[in-house]
Amino acid sequence: TPNSEERFDGGSAPVTVLSDDLLAEHVVEDPHSYFSHLRETSPVHWNKAFRAWVVTRHADCLAVLKSPNFAADTVSPYFENRLSEREQTKWRPLFDVLRTWIVFKDPPDHARLRGLMRGAFTPRVVEAIRPAVQRMASTLLPAGEGRHEVNLIEEFAFPLPAWVISSMVGVHQEDLWLVSEWSKDIVEVAQGSLGSGDRRQRAQTAMLEFREYLRPIVEDRRRNPRDNDLLTELITAETESHQLTVDELLGGAILLLVAGHETTQNLLANCVIALARNPEQYRRLKEDRSLVRGTVEETLRFDGPVKSLLRVAVDEVQIGAVTVAKGDRVLISVAGANRDPRKFNDPDFFDVGRDASAQLTFGQGIHYCLGAPLARLETQEALNLILDRYRSVRLLTDRIEYDPKVIARTPLSVPVEFTS
Ligand code: HEM
Repeated sequence: TPNSEERFDGGSAPVTVLSDDLLAEHVVEDPHSYFSHLRETSPVHWNKAFRAWVVTRHADCLAVLKSPNFAADTVSPYFENRLSEREQTKWRPLFDVLRTWIVFKDPPDHARLRGLMRGAFTPRVVEAIRPAVQRMASTLLPAGEGRHEVNLIEEFAFPLPAWVISSMVGVHQEDLWLVSEWSKDIVEVAQGSLGSGDRRQRAQTAMLEFREYLRPIVEDRRRNPRDNDLLTELITAETESHQLTVDELLGGAILLLVAGHETTQNLLANCVIALARNPEQYRRLKEDRSLVRGTVEETLRFDGPVKSLLRVAVDEVQIGAVTVAKGDRVLISVAGANRDPRKFNDPDFFDVGRDASAQLTFGQGIHYCLGAPLARLETQEALNLILDRYRSVRLLTDRIEYDPKVIARTPLSVPVEFTS
């Protein structure tokens, strides 16, 4: 292709690799072909533009996620080594919140925070939200005979998870749009580099406004604890002599709101897109509801809402045939791993009946997604409602546009027609 360059890898045969631009239009539109090409030609590939090794084989991705030689704190090295003293002063408020986030913590501090947060995600707390998810979902989608045109993102995939996580963290329903705006600004920078230019400024402003918005909500919940309530559990969490500090609590609540809505929104949307493109799989599901759980796992594998995860090597370490130097960044392409034919048969085929449980979209190892049971519950309930109401689903566009992001896979608009 015109974007190709020649490169020698590991001293063996020359391989042709694609351009390093992870935000090139064809990569954003179809990351799977891009990562599959990398996986088969240069499985541990130095991406000059992003300044990271891109790892695309399932076994290698799993090894990196489980290895103590890779740190999840990608923010501190950036902050400390790449920003001038003046810049550090300017961006310290943003950095100070990000570094309370469990996703950027490494052992031993990670285990302390995880112990405290895990208690808030008990099956009891997650299960308690199920009836409300069902009720909410059923008010969002049209009922009645005939054909229904629906803007899937605006009318369903955004409001459902946003409402669920907001109500779990005590945000008032009329403020959902505020939370969504703040989240969008923050998620952009939450990938190790604190973003750049205007985006960084917007993220810092959003982060501080968000924190001040949550402060009275947390104070109120401290005085009025509730049963089976995520925020109450976070506030009262205690292990041995530890409790979350106020900063950790507010930072944690922001992380949950940011992590809990866009990812689940995209999972839901990607699931409907895959089913609309594979009507025979939709019919199969309608006949056998026991496949709903597996369908959600298969969507996570086939077209998950997270494409990549980032780590930093804390030591010189081997990945496959490549020696990675201490301090090098590694981009773990879970999208690449999830279509690795060494792990999954016929990986480019969307098959609601397959065992997709080895998918890596919730991560793996000590940082495995805490919200996975909640995301699964929401997506399964949403899918069940769609199957209850509609005979078929059709996409009303040939081409879906995605937000150009390295980490997230975010469809921008998904017009569909449901037929009852
Ligand atoms: C961690 C994906 C939904 C809360 C993670 C990680 C991934 C992930 C890949 C690990 C990050 C890493 O290793 O660098 C997803 C996906 C979701 C989803 C694909 C939806 C489909 C949620 C929800 C919540 C949540 C709904 C909360 C309500 C968290 C938290 C962590 C996390 C707190 C940090 C765990 C740790 O660092 O120990 N998520 N997530 N996630 N997720 Fe999720």
